Amino acid sequence: MSESRIIPVSSWNPEAEIVERAAEVLRAGGLVAFPTETVYGLGANSLMPEAALKIFTAKGRPQDNPLILHFAARRDVDPIALVTERAEELMKKFWPGPLTLVLPSKGVVPREVTAGLDTIAVRMPSHPVALSLIDRAGFPIAAPSANSSGRPSPTEAQAVADDLGCRVDLILDGGLTTVGVESTVLDLTGPTMILLRPGGCPVERIEDAIGEKVLLTGGEAHRSPGTRYRHYAPSVPLLLDREGNVHARAAAIGHRIAWMGMTGAEPPFPRGTVHDALSIVFTSMENYARGLFHAIRTLEARQADVIVAQWPPSPEGVGRAVQDRLERASSKR
Ligand code: TXA
Ligand code: MG
Repeated sequence: MSESRIIPVSSWNPEAEIVERAAEVLRAGGLVAFPTETVYGLGANSLMPEAALKIFTAKGRPQDNPLILHFAARRDVDPIALVTERAEELMKKFWPGPLTLVLPSKGVVPREVTAGLDTIAVRMPSHPVALSLIDRAGFPIAAPSANSSGRPSPTEAQAVADDLGCRVDLILDGGLTTVGVESTVLDLTGPTMILLRPGGCPVERIEDAIGEKVLLTGGEAHRSPGTRYRHYAPSVPLLLDREGNVHARAAAIGHRIAWMGMTGAEPPFPRGTVHDALSIVFTSMENYARGLFHAIRTLEARQADVIVAQWPPSPEGVGRAVQDRLERASSKR
């Protein structure tokens, strides 16, 4: 397979001519992978059905799983979605940032993007490269995470290239993403706010901002189509250290046991079990989130037989997203 084109771009002051080149690819109906503060996105012109369809083909994504629309200006949402009072407040407080809002759709966006739903997911990323690309393009960019369907989300350009190869026309390389897990997805179409996916924006902060409880569904609700599919599956088994007997179970799989967890966590096996190169320690829950997907890909590349991951002790803050992603990475094994 031929290599996709990776172009380095400044993550804090994106070069205008590089951004323009990428915008031109999008205008012509091509696919551009770009950094957001959460993970890399695989972008297409959201108003061009044949461009949006390419996303599903490139990722191997089921077509009934709708895409998020990315905006660079709040006012651009108005023609596309009904912005409720609560949505307005949340946008003021958390945009740009890792919060995606599901709102009633105004029916402008092609069904290839919305999977035929009468709701639409909107978000304004805070990454300068994402913002300037959307602004330059002149239309909202439809973008899922830029991984092959079912793989861990990419937090660096090389991971996009590894997964998608020549199926993407251009990859903007803005280095490692800072949040590391995807945006929080919040359904605002009903009387109660419903968490469809925990992510970079903690639920507690949303509740504080609005003064109302968010209905927790324990991951993507039945209403979020993405939940029907397998997610974040590493190519090696991932075990959670909350499960009993984890050392014996890991050892039964292979001798190259990898471990990831936070500083101070006690790995559930005797000292010396894990080779240094297979041990990844995070200094905070924010860093666990930031490094989780990268760590999984790194440990795969270092040929671990099995990964044992510390279960975050608390679902507070970004810990809820880390718990969710670990659970999905370990399920159906
Ligand atoms: O951080 C992120 O959100 C990244 C970056 C690139 O922005 N994007 C991302 O997109 O994670 P994706 O497609 O991998 O995940 C979007 C999730 C899916 O689970 C999808 O089912 C859900 O959002 N979703 C999209 N539109 C929806 C809708 N109208 N109603 C319910 N869920 C929706
Ligand atoms: Mg995804």
